Amino acid sequence: MSYAMSTNLDTNLTSNTPLSHDAIRHFVAPEECLQGKTILVTGASAGIGRVAALTYARYGATVLLLSRNISKLEAVYDEIENSGGKQPAILPMDLETATYDEMRRLAKLIDTEFGQLDGVLHNAGILGQLTPLEMYDVDLFAKVMYVNATATFMLTQALLPLLKESDNGSIVFTSSTVGTHPRAFWGAYALSKQTLEGMSDIFTQETQNTTNLRFNCINPGGTRTNMRAHAFPGENPMTLKTPEDIMSGYVCLMSDASIGVRGQVVALQPKD
Ligand SMILES: NC(=O)c1ccc[n+]([C@@H]2O[C@H](COP(=O)([O-])OP(=O)(O)OC[C@H]3O[C@@H](n4cnc5c(N)ncnc54)[C@H](OP(=O)(O)O)[C@@H]3O)[C@@H](O)[C@H]2O)c1
Repeated sequence: MSYAMSTNLDTNLTSNTPLSHDAIRHFVAPEECLQGKTILVTGASAGIGRVAALTYARYGATVLLLSRNISKLEAVYDEIENSGGKQPAILPMDLETATYDEMRRLAKLIDTEFGQLDGVLHNAGILGQLTPLEMYDVDLFAKVMYVNATATFMLTQALLPLLKESDNGSIVFTSSTVGTHPRAFWGAYALSKQTLEGMSDIFTQETQNTTNLRFNCINPGGTRTNMRAHAFPGENPMTLKTPEDIMSGYVCLMSDASIGVRGQVVALQPKD
């Protein structure tokens, strides 16, 4: 994987000035920049989350893989082990049905087994319907809001005590262009992403004076995955960036280079 060169790395790592969005997008990741970190990735079985998990492992992190599909998670686990990454962990969880108690037990398990949690990439999500709100199936609306936003909040809250123990914990929510600018027919998906942007902002305000935690949103922009293909069935996927193409921003927000970046919504493909 190659990363476009645009920032002076030494400046990135030593400066007190938070990185610009452009610097985050084009971050040149130093080898092992995630060494010593334990990072949880939700939706790690497919698409962007799978590639983020592989990439975090390649830069030295111990990666905790969460989603529903155990056999797909096992494939990611094997890929990490076979490429010499730190031994990952599979944490099967359905965000639609998991209770808050189960999430707290998960936090306890991470504490017992790994002793730390330094980052969470909240990446799991579902699309729902693309239809006018007037016609939106109300049960599906509730499900999309729950999986994309409510469960993300619950998991964040359950993991907060552990994240606070990290020197520089980073929590990244995954938004979308329709979350930043709600658009007709994107219904619950757009509203759930808008909620995540608000959630990141509120968590930032509530923690920035008392903790080292940083909360940010990432908007990957149109990326070649199954979700994108469902949303745009007529689109030629070869015109889209792959998850690998957009990993600079994902690595940057988890690495110490982004210390000081708080409450931001970073669009990785701003022209989308
Ligand atoms: N691709 C794009 O163009 C694009 C653009 C903007 C934003 N995004 C956002 O980027 C994120 C990743 O998207 P993607 O395109 O990579 O999607 P994807 O290929 O459909 O992957 C979605 C992931 O979420 C997991 N997931 C879904 N429901 C879950 C549940 N109930 N519990 C636990 N895990 C669940 C899936 O795993 P299991 O099936 O194993 O549970 C899968 O790993 C999403 O938040 C999406 O909204 C994507």
